Amino acid sequence: MNGDQKPIGVAVLGLGNVGSEVVRIIDESATDLAARIGAPLQLRGIGVRRVSADRGVPVELLTDNIEELVSRDDVDIVVELMGPVEPARKAILTALEQGKSVVTANKALMSVSTGELAQAAEAAHVDLYFEAAVAGAIPVIRPLTQSLAGDTVTRVAGIVNGTTNYILSAMDSTGADYGDALAEASALGYAEADPTADVEGYDAAAKAAILASIAFHTRVTADDVYREGITKVTAADFASARALGCTIKLLAICERLTSDDGHQSVSARVYPALVPLTHPLAAVNGAFNAVVVEAEAAGRLMFYGQGAGGAPTASAVMGDVVMAARNRVQGGRGPRESKYAKLPISPIGDIPTRYYVSMRVADRPGVLAAVATEFGNRSVSIAEVRQEGIDDGGEPRGARLVVVTHKATDAALSETVKALASLDVVQSVDSVIRMEGTSE
Ligand code: NDP
Ligand code: HSE
Repeated sequence: MNGDQKPIGVAVLGLGNVGSEVVRIIDESATDLAARIGAPLQLRGIGVRRVSADRGVPVELLTDNIEELVSRDDVDIVVELMGPVEPARKAILTALEQGKSVVTANKALMSVSTGELAQAAEAAHVDLYFEAAVAGAIPVIRPLTQSLAGDTVTRVAGIVNGTTNYILSAMDSTGADYGDALAEASALGYAEADPTADVEGYDAAAKAAILASIAFHTRVTADDVYREGITKVTAADFASARALGCTIKLLAICERLTSDDGHQSVSARVYPALVPLTHPLAAVNGAFNAVVVEAEAAGRLMFYGQGAGGAPTASAVMGDVVMAARNRVQGGRGPRESKYAKLPISPIGDIPTRYYVSMRVADRPGVLAAVATEFGNRSVSIAEVRQEGIDDGGEPRGARLVVVTHKATDAALSETVKALASLDVVQSVDSVIRMEGTSE
C-alpha cells in the first residue's frame, strides 16, 4: 500500500446491534482493511439519538445531527444502520446527492425506495450497496448481481427470516403450539418485543422484493409481494405435515414465469408452506437462513448461514464498505442498478401451487365422497387423503381429514374451501397451507 494514500472517511449512522459491531471491526481490523482497500479507513463520526460518554466509543465521535454528519467534506462513505424508513431515507439521499457512497442494511427502506435511491446514486456516480439487507451474513445480493450476471435466474426461494424459522423449528421439534414457541423465542431474545414484522411476514416480504428486483432486473416493491404470516400454523398442522413426510417453513419465493404464449412475468410471495423433509430447506433450523437460487446455466445453488445478529450482519456490511472504498481508491464504481427487463408482476391468483387442507368432519359414512365432490366440482385434483380420529370429548364425535391436492390456482382452491365450509358434514376448515418443493 502507498503510505501516502488519502484515508477514506466513513460515517456510521446507528450504534445498535449492527452499528456497534461495524465500528468494532473498523477499529480492530484497521491494518488488514487498509491493506485490502489500498487506503486506511478513518471513522469520522457516528450518528445516534442519545449522545453520551457511556457508549463504548470516544464521545467526540458521536452526534445526533445526522444531516450534518453525512454532509461533511471528509466523509466518503456513509454506512446507514439506523432503520427503519425515516430518517434513514433522507440521510441516504443527502449523502448520495453530496457524492458519498452508501452502504445500508435497511431492508424496509430498500424494499420501498429503491428507484429513488438508485437514481440518486446513478446521478452522483457513486455506489449504493445493501448486501446485509437480505439474509444477514449470507452473500446473496452480490452473487445475484455479479456472479450470475451472465446467466438467467429462474427462481430464488428461501428462508430469510430467522425469528419465524426459530419458532417453526421449535414447533416441529417439540410439538409446541405457536403461542408457546413465540414466548420461548421472545425469552431467548430472538423475537422482538413487537414481533409483528417477523411473524406476519412483512420482514420476509421486504427481502423477497429486494431479491426479485435484482434476480429479474425488474422493480419489485414490498407492496407487490403476496404475504401470509405464521400465526395460524398449529401443532396439529405440524403433526399432519410429519405424517406426510414434510415440515413447515416460512418461504420467500421469487419466480420468473413464462406463459404458454411466451410472455414472461414475475411472482414474489411469502407464506408458510409444507416442505418435504428431503428438500434442502427442510434441514435449515433455528434462527438460520438459507436461499436457493436456480439459474438456467448454473442449475441450483444454495446459500446458508446466519441471517441476523450484530456480528454476522456487520460482516456483510463490511464487505460492502471494502468494495465501496476500493472503488473510490481506484476512481470507479461498482455495478449500477439493472431494471431493464420491466417484467409485469403476476397476481397470486394466477400462481398454481399444491395445497394441504385440514378440516374437522363428522365421522360417518359418505363424508369423504361429499368432500371429494367439492374438490372435483372445481377441477381441483386430490393427490392424497388422510383421516385421523379426534377424541377431544366433543359432540358430535369428529375426525380430522387432511387433503393434499395437486397443483391448483388460488382462485379454484378458495372456491373449494368456501364450498367445503358450507357442507353440513364439515364442522370446520382449520388450515389451508400451500405445499412447495415437490414436482407435481
Ligand atoms: P438497533 O435498534 O439496535 O440500533 C439502531 C441505532 O440507530 C441506534 O444506535 C439508534 O440510536 C440509531 N438511531 C435510530 N434512529 C435514529 C435517529 N432518528 N437518529 C439518530 N440515530 C438513530 O438496530 P440494529 O442494529 O438491529 O439494525 C440496524 C439496521 O440493520 C436496521 O435497518 C435493520 O433492519 C438492519 N438489520 C439488522 C439485523 C440484525 O440482526 N439486527 C440483520 C439485518 C439487517 P440510539 O442508540 O441512540 O438509540
Ligand atoms: N428480524 C429479522 C429476522 C432480522 O428475524 O430474520 C434480520 O433481518
